[in-house]
Amino acid sequence: ANQQDFAQAVVAWQRTHGRHDLPWQGSTDPYRVWVSEIMLQQTQVSTVIPYYLRFMARFPDVLALADAPDDEVMQHWAGLGYYSRARNLHAAARDVRDRFGGQFPTDPEALQSLRGIGRSTAAAIAAFSANARAAILDGNVKRVLARVFAIQGFPGSAPVERQMWALADSLLPAAGDMPAYTQGLMDLGATLCTPKRPRCGECPLADRCEALRQSRVAELPVARPR
Ligand code: ADE
Repeated sequence: ANQQDFAQAVVAWQRTHGRHDLPWQGSTDPYRVWVSEIMLQQTQVSTVIPYYLRFMARFPDVLALADAPDDEVMQHWAGLGYYSRARNLHAAARDVRDRFGGQFPTDPEALQSLRGIGRSTAAAIAAFSANARAAILDGNVKRVLARVFAIQGFPGSAPVERQMWALADSLLPAAGDMPAYTQGLMDLGATLCTPKRPRCGECPLADRCEALRQSRVAELPVARPR
């Protein structure tokens, strides 16, 4: 009862405790999902919301973005920071226009061929827009997995990262549960399974968390060797 119902525990928690009313939720349009995921990469939800709404009002679909002048895209990003995200977004939109006939892709392989979309972001977009069974693995998810499964070794090292991708793949629920599962795992890592003072008392995974059982939550994930 550790690998088996991991996904169901995350899904049930997301359905009862997660947020369901954010402006990018409830749409399966991969363009809208993509813009939200890129904005959320290095910026918190409350900051992203007004930027997202303004961006979508001006660039409602991928062709509107592709055909827009650079300076207007940058003006709509101004204040969000990490401006390479905006330049990549614009380049990717033109790429979807020119290479995908204006149809935003939903499969992880095609998504990863676009500027600024790595393996984990591709999986998130594919899961939210097409129920794809593709695993995410960002810093928050690495922390959850390192703790629940008491994974030894620095998660930034290639062998541990490989092990974590394989584990993440093995934990996926059925396709219909992929959006709730993906969102739940992100939110669990961001709100409960935090680097400092994790709220294990509220965690739906506490009953199978190996780090908690061993009183090693503070030691996992293993820090970068120095
Ligand atoms: N960070 C990246 N993607 C996110 C999402 N969908 N919800 C909350 N935070 C995120």
